[in-house]
Amino acid sequence: MLPPDLLGPFLREAYPSVLERWPELVVFTENTPDPERDVIDTLTAYSFQHVDMADSVALRDDWLATWNRFQPNLPPESFSGRTVLEVGSGEGRHACLVGEHASLMVGLDLSRGVELAFQRDLNPNSYYVQGDLRRPPFKAHSFDALYSNGVLHHTPDPALSFRSVTGLVNSGGGVYVWVYGLAEMSWSYRMSHLAFLRPLTNRLPQSGQVGVATGLTVALELGLWGPTRILRRAGLEQIAEKIPYADAADKDWQYKIRRMFDRINPPVTHYISKDELSEWFHNFDNTEIINAYGQGWSARGQVRASS
Ligand SMILES: C[S@@+](CC[C@H](N)C(=O)[O-])C[C@H]1O[C@@H](n2cnc3c(N)ncnc32)[C@H](O)[C@@H]1O
Repeated sequence: MLPPDLLGPFLREAYPSVLERWPELVVFTENTPDPERDVIDTLTAYSFQHVDMADSVALRDDWLATWNRFQPNLPPESFSGRTVLEVGSGEGRHACLVGEHASLMVGLDLSRGVELAFQRDLNPNSYYVQGDLRRPPFKAHSFDALYSNGVLHHTPDPALSFRSVTGLVNSGGGVYVWVYGLAEMSWSYRMSHLAFLRPLTNRLPQSGQVGVATGLTVALELGLWGPTRILRRAGLEQIAEKIPYADAADKDWQYKIRRMFDRINPPVTHYISKDELSEWFHNFDNTEIINAYGQGWSARGQVRASS
């Protein structure tokens, strides 16, 4: 379901032989918009991250831990019996969990992550669609609930992106989004964003970005994760858990490199303030904006009957 202005340039750059063999895959018309460089780069960057750098094993406990961090007090079971859309489902780590309870689970993502999600998610009610959330290929009011974890801030205009998807939810339905904050967040979270490196890393080719991510992983291994493991072995668990990002100390190298890569990979990143989020949700009922453990905003509300 990728529109031709995204699919055409993506295939031309990443898979030219596919386009040569099946040129009919991309049909341009006079109404096709001009290609947007940032969004094509996002499609390429996340396809690489989700498919070429995929974790070799399913990390269910880790998926649940991130879900609980992004969506406090909203267990996957709370979607029981509902039709649910995940906006920007990536490789399906959260849709796999929610899909166990939802009556219908649909994951929409720009990137080839949908292929991995489709392979991983064995829930019979789960479906994945590759498309642009700003032009979602669904009818208005098709879902009882929508959630989006870590996605809207990677689009050129996050507020516009939010408005593009909320009309897909029924009156009274729930909208739950987690986005990056900055000023109000913990210092370790702010540091971890490596914003000061982006002007450099955004210009590097993918192999250079993987090299930087590997270098950062070695530095954190020496500075944080190695000491965390030593403290744990010495029985000083309480001190070890105070070290930032202690949760990753025992994970394998591929996982850690990928986590670093995730910080420098996105071509577009915005930081959203609480005021902006309040504006996004101004015509919703029961709105709540939670500073989620000093590591981002979790915002939610119910679609008002008249909106
Ligand atoms: C940081 S990842 C988060 C993935 C997933 N929500 C998770 O938590 O595992 C951001 C995702 O947003 C997707 N994305 C970015 N822009 C998008 C767009 N315009 N339409 C749909 N998905 C988009 C990317 O492809 C990527 O998979």
